[in-house]
Amino acid sequence: MPKVPVQFTLNGEEKAEFVDSGATLLKALRDKIGDHSPKGGCHQGTCGACSVLVDGELKLSCLVLAETCQGASVTTAAGLAENGVLHPLQRAFIDGFAAQCGFCTPGMLMAAKSLLDRVPNPTRDDVVEAISGNICRCTGYEPIIQAVLTAARANSQNAA
Ligand code: FES
Ligand code: FES
Repeated sequence: MPKVPVQFTLNGEEKAEFVDSGATLLKALRDKIGDHSPKGGCHQGTCGACSVLVDGELKLSCLVLAETCQGASVTTAAGLAENGVLHPLQRAFIDGFAAQCGFCTPGMLMAAKSLLDRVPNPTRDDVVEAISGNICRCTGYEPIIQAVLTAARANSQNAA
């Protein structure tokens, strides 16, 4: 398999690696760079566990070729905390028991982050829609929905 160079920013840090031509961003992140926060569930775009932001846009990293991310800014759940302080979404997920096995959680967090970046004060329906591509087999979704709404409230109080 021919190797191709890829260079992008991951959670604010420059990364440069050689990956197999045709390798997905998910594979590059997990197997080459060592960021295991995006999870490989279905590897075919249906579970959302691999969700990341590429240049601020929510992407399923199992469907993105790593070589198309040249020069991009990639954000994963591992990059949400700042200076050791959890992101409000992470705090709300913990406090609201919105993670059980945790497999879906990084993807849920990124889908929720994408929503709050676009819609700081979402409705419940907005949250349901935003996480509709992310499958959770444990929680029944309600704690996740409530956690996202709690984080949105915390964000708007911090901004006030
Ligand atoms: S692993 Fe990418 S959507 Fe399931
Ligand atoms: S917490 Fe287990 S799949 Fe969501």
